[in-house]
Order: sequence, then structure tokens, then C-alpha cells
Amino acid sequence: MITYTLDADPADAQARRSARARDAAMLRRAGYAVLAVCLAAFAGGPARAADVIKGSQTYVKHCAACHGPAGVSVMPGAPHLARGERMMQSDLALLASLKAGKNAMPAYFGILTDREILDVIAYSRTLR
Ligand code: HEC
Repeated sequence: MITYTLDADPADAQARRSARARDAAMLRRAGYAVLAVCLAAFAGGPARAADVIKGSQTYVKHCAACHGPAGVSVMPGAPHLARGERMMQSDLALLASLKAGKNAMPAYFGILTDREILDVIAYSRTLR
């Protein structure tokens, strides 16, 4: 059933119209917020492939001093990544080692994000 209301006072009608416009704007904003959250979830999701270019930049900055610019270790005790030493482990196992640190190797938790570490691991796997 459709009901019609008579607006005795034009100011009432105006108030109702602006209230409806406000509600619509609020719904739109809520919609955008939901959309933004969904997009963020996809963008940061675990499905993204590792970025070896970013990984190489992180490597130069954080790893080369010990593991060598080309993965040939320049520090006693640091594995030669270019020979694949210690690399026969899953990305997640290496992620855990790098976050926690290992003996002379510093812990990267709080210094590099998981994403950055996974990128640098992917880059390390390309060293020959
Ligand atoms: C201060 C020197 C140093 C720096 C900087 C360093 N490492 Fe290491 N890294 C080591 C040493 C030493 C070991 C061997 C640790 C052990 O097992 O005693 C090691 C071990 C590793 C391993 C083997 C881990 C395992 O579980 O056996 C990997 C992979 C690795 N480093 C990668 C990296 C990457 C990638 C970076 C940069 C984000 C990095 N390292 C930075 C010294 C370093």
C-alpha cells in the first residue's frame, strides 16, 4: 500500500528530504568502507606471488653484508646461499628462522615484514 502524506509545513518536507539524503550518503559511505576492506583483504592476501625485485633490494640492504652480494658468503659461518646451502627448507621454515634470527644472524621480526622476508627468500633462491 502506498501512503501519501500531506505536508502541512513545507519545512517538514524539506527536513524529511534532507534526512533521506543523509541516510543515503551514510549508506554509500558504509558501502565504500566495506569495499575498501574487501580490496585490502585481497591486496594483502597470501595468494600474491613473491616479488623478487623487491627481494633483491632488501637483500642488498639487509643480507649482503654477511651472505655476500651474490650469495657467496663473506662471513665465516654464514651459509653460501648461491650454493643453495640451507635453502632446502620451505619458505615458511626459512621465514620462521629469519624472524627469530639464528646465532650470529640477527632476528628480522619488527625490522622486515613477513612479506618482505618472503620476497627476499624468493630472491635468495634465484642466486647461483
Ligand atoms: C650478521 C650477518 C648476517 C646477516 C645480516 C644475515 N645473515 Fe643469514 N645467516 C647468518 C649466519 C651466521 C647464519 C647461520 C646461522 C646458524 O645456523 O648458525 C645465517 C643463516 C641464514 C639462513 C639459513 C637459515 C636456516 O634456517 O638454516 C638463511 C636462509 C639466511 N641466513 C638468509 C638471510 C637473509 C635472507 C638475510 C637478510 C634478510 C640474512 N640472512 C641476513 C648471518 C647473517
